[in-house]
Amino acid sequence: MNYLIGIDLGTSSTKTVLFDEAGNIIADSKVDYPLYTPHNGWAEQKPEDWANAAVTTITNVIRESGVKGEDVKGLGISGQMHGLVMLDEECNVIRPSIIWCDQRTGKECEEITEKIGAKRLIEITANPALTGFTASKILWVKNNEPENYAKCKHILLPKDYVRYVLTGEFATEVSDAAGMQLLDVPKRQWSDEVLEKLGIDKSLLAKVYESPEVTGTILPEMAEKTGLSTSTVVVGGAGDNAAAAVGTGVVEDGMAFTTIGTSGVVFTHSSEVKIDPKGRVHTFCCAVPGAWHQMGVTQACGYSLQWYLDNCGNSYSYEAKEKGIDKYDIIDKEVLDTPIGSNKLLYLPYLNGERTPHLDPDARGVFFGLSSMHTRADMVRSVYEGMIYSLTDCKDVLVEMGVDIKEMMACGGGLKSPVKRQMLADSFGVEVKSVTAKEGPALGVAILAGVGAGLYESVPEACKKMIHVDPDSLCVPDEENGKEYAKYHEIYKEVYADLKDTYKKLASL
Ligand code: XUL
Repeated sequence: MNYLIGIDLGTSSTKTVLFDEAGNIIADSKVDYPLYTPHNGWAEQKPEDWANAAVTTITNVIRESGVKGEDVKGLGISGQMHGLVMLDEECNVIRPSIIWCDQRTGKECEEITEKIGAKRLIEITANPALTGFTASKILWVKNNEPENYAKCKHILLPKDYVRYVLTGEFATEVSDAAGMQLLDVPKRQWSDEVLEKLGIDKSLLAKVYESPEVTGTILPEMAEKTGLSTSTVVVGGAGDNAAAAVGTGVVEDGMAFTTIGTSGVVFTHSSEVKIDPKGRVHTFCCAVPGAWHQMGVTQACGYSLQWYLDNCGNSYSYEAKEKGIDKYDIIDKEVLDTPIGSNKLLYLPYLNGERTPHLDPDARGVFFGLSSMHTRADMVRSVYEGMIYSLTDCKDVLVEMGVDIKEMMACGGGLKSPVKRQMLADSFGVEVKSVTAKEGPALGVAILAGVGAGLYESVPEACKKMIHVDPDSLCVPDEENGKEYAKYHEIYKEVYADLKDTYKKLASL
């Protein structure tokens, strides 16, 4: 029997899953690590923590399963995008990684836009300068820690550092490299123009592969440590969303997925490069060679519910404890028993500013229309609806760009709730379904590893063999409900438009 490993290097933990070649989970293992916030708005992690977590979790799945290292034909790594890892001459980590959600680089984004020009930047990198992306983080180190920049000999993304530790190779792949803002996204290669204008030496960057291509094999000392074999191939892998797309079978035109985690993402596959000239959605290379994806991101989607429940949801926790049931079952029932529109209460989920569609770091959360008649049920339903409207805004930008959405898959913890999946189907006006496998990104990169190892011909062929739609998951849109949601969604959009300037005033105080 052949086996494949998928590693998902997340922000709170790394999870490694061992699959058989039919996509069944044989073993999994997870290791957590900290996130450091040395200043307000900063976010850093230690690359050494990621590497240790990867080595430990690989060792655990091999040991627990009793599978022989030489039967693990391929390994793929997926992970948080955009993080900056800098290595010195001896390949030691120079400073902690500045990761995707770090917001310190506002000035550097202005510098990038000024040096390249807003229009040209979008033409080449498919995106406007964003604080989350790697280019601005590199310039921040150059501007603020010149001694560290002078020592830097290699620049890697988080998952590519783990690849270096396992294989000794400096390699990346198109889906993650696209999030560095140094790649010519239509051409799928480093942009000499951007590198030159930003003064970044190309020799610092890793070689770019397509996601299923073999980038190396396991080093002898790593094989000995983990139980893998030196013949196990390590493929390019993918950024977390591109990997989740493969893991949910979103690999052809017309296919899309929506996920609710901390943030919310609406992701569409496309065999053509489609770029929003206003930069409201990201366009990156996808893990299927020769294809791209667009993705709208709403910053505080699942996080809105988590924030609301952490601060105002004690009564649900007490009730759940008393009745011995899950608090989310109580909440889902209350949401179902409350009419669309939450009795004329709206919630805007902009707790941490917003990416799609506003690109507004100053936007903030709002409950609008609060009345003495409102109950906790109206409040929690309005939070659900705000999450759905923000995702609908993402979908609407994609449709406006001419992206075809025929099939919408739901994934991520937040869409395990059938109530939210039905709300999404009603508001989107498209059928929503899920796949049986719940390991999205880890399965996605295991599939890429299977293609790289020669077990499958292509990514779509592998997906057909390894991914199955859950027949019980189908949510068919209800047209009447859709019309009701649309009325409230219009007012939701008006509230942001009315507050846009006021948010700026508040931020400037
Ligand atoms: C994508 C993004 C996140 C991170 C962390 O642009 O910022 O998806 O990859 O999950």
